[in-house]
Amino acid sequence: MTIKDFFTANNIDMDTNCARDLAWLLVERTKSEPIEWGAKEITKQEQTAIKRDIARLKKGEPLGLILGFVPFVNCEIKVTPDVLIPRSETEQLCDMIITEYEGVPTRILDLCTGSGCIAVSLAKNLDAYVLATDISEAAVSVARQNALANFAQVDFVVGDMFEKVSGQFDIIVCNPPYLDSKEMETLPRSVADYEPHSALFGGEDGLDFYRKIAQEAPAYLSAGGVIYMEVGDFQAEKVAEIFGEFDCNIVGDYYGFDRFVIARSRK
Ligand SMILES: C[S@@+](CC[C@H](N)C(=O)[O-])C[C@H]1O[C@@H](n2cnc3c(N)ncnc32)[C@H](O)[C@@H]1O
Repeated sequence: MTIKDFFTANNIDMDTNCARDLAWLLVERTKSEPIEWGAKEITKQEQTAIKRDIARLKKGEPLGLILGFVPFVNCEIKVTPDVLIPRSETEQLCDMIITEYEGVPTRILDLCTGSGCIAVSLAKNLDAYVLATDISEAAVSVARQNALANFAQVDFVVGDMFEKVSGQFDIIVCNPPYLDSKEMETLPRSVADYEPHSALFGGEDGLDFYRKIAQEAPAYLSAGGVIYMEVGDFQAEKVAEIFGEFDCNIVGDYYGFDRFVIARSRK
């Protein structure tokens, strides 16, 4: 049976709201492009596996978890229920850092590393020493696997923010948990049921981790060092205020939200 016939036989509608994920799923599972689907044959076994995947997708499970990986910068990042699925905004943050520091020897600290997507992509694309840390042992285990699989040299430690960190860094980068109590109550099912809550909740107003970073980062930043942070919707101004002792820039994401705060040390 061709992929196109398989669609017809199973009433698969490519115009549903998960059409993009569905198309990506089929590209990955059949190792073929949509233009080939009129002629590309798939086995009974493949059909059964794809039907199972589509049922998971329809239930709201994120595609990254179904496939077990997401593409991120020029890396393939393994994801499991123990880590946040890397988002395109975070990829934009890494692209920004890679463009800025290309060819410059740099020491980087990635706090709240999760899957290790930030640490791994920066280590792979920059002339950088990278140390990454997360409080979750399970997340760090996934991050270590990602570093190995992507041939990236990263040191990992398990700890609460700066707890296990020593040394000075030119860049501290962090995409911390930043949702507030209200947002935690109204999470879409695809997030609430499938992603670790410890990766999401940033305290009552969502800003606890930024306060901690503002307080502790100066001891770990080299002269002129910079902190790159991803922030939640409508948090950028408040985060820049928390970093009042720094020179702050707010940068928008591709969707038009103020998404990144870049805080430069004045010392
Ligand atoms: C929003 S996720 C970011 C993951 C990854 N950096 C990314 O951008 O996809 C936040 C991460 O912070 C970690 N985390 C939560 N509390 C922490 C703490 N007190 N110290 C260090 N990491 C923490 C979580 O385990 C989770 O992996």
